[in-house]
Amino acid sequence: NYDAQVDSLMQLMTLEEKVGQMNQYNGFYDVTGPAPTGGNAAVKYEHLRKGWVGAMLSVRGVEEVHKLQKLVVEESRLGIPLLFGFDVIHGYKTLSPIPLAEAASWDLKAIEQSASIAANEASAVGLNWTFAPMVDISRDARWGRVMEGAGEDPYLGSKIATARVRGFQGSDLSAPNTIAATAKHFAAYGFVEGGIEYGIVDIGTHTLYNQVLPPFQAAVDADVKSVMNGFNLLNGVPVTGNAFLQREMLKGKMNFQGFVVSDWASTQEMVAHGFAADEKDAALKASIAGSDMEMESGTYVAHLAALVREGKVDEAVIDEAVRRILKVKFELGLFEDPYRYCDLEREKERIYHADHQAGVRDMARRSMVLLKNEGELLPLGKKQKNILVVGAMAKDKNSPLGSWRIASDDNSAVSVWEGLSAQNPYLKYIKGPEYFDPEVAFVQEVKVNEDDLSGLEEAVAAAKEADVVVLVAGEHGFQSGEARSRAEIGLPGIQPQLIRALHKANSNMVLLLFNGRPLTLSWEAENIPAILECWQPGSQAGNAVADVVFGDYNPAGKLPMTFPRNLGQVPIYYNQYNGSRPDPQPIVFWSHYMDSEKSPLFPFGYGLSYSEFAYSDLKVDASNPKAVQVEVVLENKGKRAGEEVAQLYVRDLVANQVRPIKELKGFEKVYLQAGASVLLRFTLTGRELGYFDHQYKWVVEPGEFEVMVGGNSVNVLKERFVLD
Ligand code: IFM
Repeated sequence: NYDAQVDSLMQLMTLEEKVGQMNQYNGFYDVTGPAPTGGNAAVKYEHLRKGWVGAMLSVRGVEEVHKLQKLVVEESRLGIPLLFGFDVIHGYKTLSPIPLAEAASWDLKAIEQSASIAANEASAVGLNWTFAPMVDISRDARWGRVMEGAGEDPYLGSKIATARVRGFQGSDLSAPNTIAATAKHFAAYGFVEGGIEYGIVDIGTHTLYNQVLPPFQAAVDADVKSVMNGFNLLNGVPVTGNAFLQREMLKGKMNFQGFVVSDWASTQEMVAHGFAADEKDAALKASIAGSDMEMESGTYVAHLAALVREGKVDEAVIDEAVRRILKVKFELGLFEDPYRYCDLEREKERIYHADHQAGVRDMARRSMVLLKNEGELLPLGKKQKNILVVGAMAKDKNSPLGSWRIASDDNSAVSVWEGLSAQNPYLKYIKGPEYFDPEVAFVQEVKVNEDDLSGLEEAVAAAKEADVVVLVAGEHGFQSGEARSRAEIGLPGIQPQLIRALHKANSNMVLLLFNGRPLTLSWEAENIPAILECWQPGSQAGNAVADVVFGDYNPAGKLPMTFPRNLGQVPIYYNQYNGSRPDPQPIVFWSHYMDSEKSPLFPFGYGLSYSEFAYSDLKVDASNPKAVQVEVVLENKGKRAGEEVAQLYVRDLVANQVRPIKELKGFEKVYLQAGASVLLRFTLTGRELGYFDHQYKWVVEPGEFEVMVGGNSVNVLKERFVLD
């Protein structure tokens, strides 16, 4: 507890210096070059020297960080060290799979380890703070940022939030290989209408409290050091200026002790929303609402001191924010040694370290989801001849890295072709039509090839001669992520034509999918015998794919988001409500689509293995209502050892606020030898059986419950019990 140190430092600070701690700037010049003399850069430089900056973002590399830190420590009056934040979303240079993919592993230890690898590498380049994990729940695959989260479920999302915060922050935040984490975006950003970025959210307290907030609470309970607000409106109020969210909920009922950082310019953008009259008004509203640090737009540093002097903002608001920010700086050990993350030797040694590569390869194979495997077409043999690999994406070393990889080196992934051909030297390759313009940067729109089928004929001819066709298809790595909403979520461009033509030539086909969101794949699911969801697996993509394709690793991933049959079903999610007429009726008046099934293509929690798992003997003992016991037998009936994620769902059949038809309330990932079985036990307490009412009060209502256990959210064994 650094309260005393923080207090005594604050006594020395002028109002301007305090406001300065609430100001964060984006990197602005090469600090190894001459000091800037013009424009915004000169202003930022001047503010740094005056101690009017609390944190920087996107400045990285030991040399850069060290110089900037030195400038502030040695030239500003009080020498308060800076925080250096960065979007370390799924790694720094060594990239793990995109976060949605990692969530598909349901492997909390592996996810924690992956975050700690990211922290290890990021801290070695001078960074001490990441803007991750994103813990936004989303049910809408049109939204590009689903790639950055843990999917649609608050229970799984909460467990993963905990794992990621622990991975980044470790057990000692002041250690040189751990960094402060940020749970973002507070709150409800994942519910943007139509999946469209920077938009509008209108949800009730029922959804806010029971779906959106739980992963944030998990992050807070894991002692996350910062929370980022966001760009969206929530029920008419921008979240950056939302006192109910930030003060009443986050810092009040949820007991968050760290500091809130705004999203990039989200304070200033409250003017565009129509919530603030001008930048001064924005600074006033955001600070009063509890947004402690402003990212980049500079309204705090320009106006807050004046607002205090004019009596419009209470100085206590400033003090509270500064106290929170300084506390994290103390916890990071920056006052002891502002350069503790600045070790040139360590930087050289850690970047792309072999241990990191091994770690992300393992994480990548754990993330893959086997969607279909008719006739056990997979795994393929390492000595099997006459396999044809098709697709521009097979040799793409960029797309498999996914989005949000600002520090990574372009073309640094092991391509699918490199990975596969290293394990089977007899493979053949044909490119076929280009899917995308390969020259695209993070800040640009992806150019999709919509009509040029050059190369298709040759690919079809080659497919006719092959025993097996392996098609590599999917989204460009920058087709998901921030501002990458899609109005259609099928395979982009000419790919559907390519698949159909190849399939006509040779239906013995494996589809390897690379995408940052659930896709609509009805035709593919019906016609292609084997489909492996690889997501965007990161630096070791090709090697991890090869491990699964050739059977060195038995896939065990399960979908963290529902795959719809068609776009009309979106938003689609497993924990829906029953509605009043859920079942088919002889006349038309029941809840259905006239032109589509209502059920998903692949449900939440779904994923196959090269083994076959069976559940039996589900038993529930509710004699102790405080700890209901659930047992089930899980057996590996397959010929190989493998892992299965046993999932437990609960339904409260009658409640004062209607409960979903099922909610995930437990899971266990189990490794079983071929032929082996195990008795799994789960305990259900009030934590699993209750919900938040409209007053944010946790209620557990006695009465009848249903328990469901199985290998996905649809195929489950069911039992009922009465909770006294
Ligand atoms: O961290 C991100 C945020 O998620 C979206 N806007 C920009 C921030 C900093 O890069």
